[in-house]
Amino acid sequence: MSQSAFAIETRNLRKVFGDKVAVSNLTLSVERGEVFGFLGPNGAGKTTSVKMLLNLVFPSGGEGYLFGQPLNDPSIRSRVGFLPEHFRFHDWLRGDEFLQLHADLYRLPRLQARRRIGELLELVGLTAHASKKLREYSKGMLQRIGLAQALLNQPELVILDEPTSGLDPVGRRLVRDIIRDLRQRGVAVFINSHLLSEVEITCDRVAFIKHGEVIRVSLL
Ligand SMILES: Nc1ncnc2c1ncn2[C@@H]1O[C@H](COP(=O)(O)OP(=O)(O)O)[C@@H](O)[C@H]1O
Ligand SMILES: [Mg+2]
Repeated sequence: MSQSAFAIETRNLRKVFGDKVAVSNLTLSVERGEVFGFLGPNGAGKTTSVKMLLNLVFPSGGEGYLFGQPLNDPSIRSRVGFLPEHFRFHDWLRGDEFLQLHADLYRLPRLQARRRIGELLELVGLTAHASKKLREYSKGMLQRIGLAQALLNQPELVILDEPTSGLDPVGRRLVRDIIRDLRQRGVAVFINSHLLSEVEITCDRVAFIKHGEVIRVSLL
């Protein structure tokens, strides 16, 4: 396991789609155990940035590391959890089957997975809905089961892309409590958001991003 002090480090990370600069020059570092907000308007390059961190989008330039390992090192995948902004759910699966599928993708042993899935369904308030098909879930329930999915592998870094979109006030409170609990357990959390109110309550530091560049980093 790498001893790097940082959960995330990037230097001049850049992504260009055709002639569109999505992320122009991203340099930042996030400490282990830190809750870090990545705040900017729609189109600022937040989703593209996290997709580069997750090796889902190949950078046009610059470099990045998770726990000191280069972004394209497959061994770091098992230490990271991810809630996408637009999850494409297998909506013919039941809630518990969906989590089992993702536990299999993480190669969690079945017995351990079953226990973990029970805990997480409880955590996100979906125990009573575990055997319902995802197509019967509301938008808020899908968001919550997506969050459970991001925590399955007990990650050291959780990346959440607009985690409270589609949630009612109770759901937003739940997400906030989960983030606080992760912080207490020393898990680093990286939160993409276009809402100041969302990051200011939960984050230790926030980066303000505009046109794919960090314009300021503040302590909260
Ligand atoms: N696959 C893509 N092809 C072309 N342009 C893209 C692609 N993905 C994102 N963009 C563009 O890059 C910019 C940043 O998008 P995005 O990272 O989704 O921003 P945010 O998440 O901050 O709203 C936007 O102008 C968007 O239209
Ligand atoms: Mg986005």
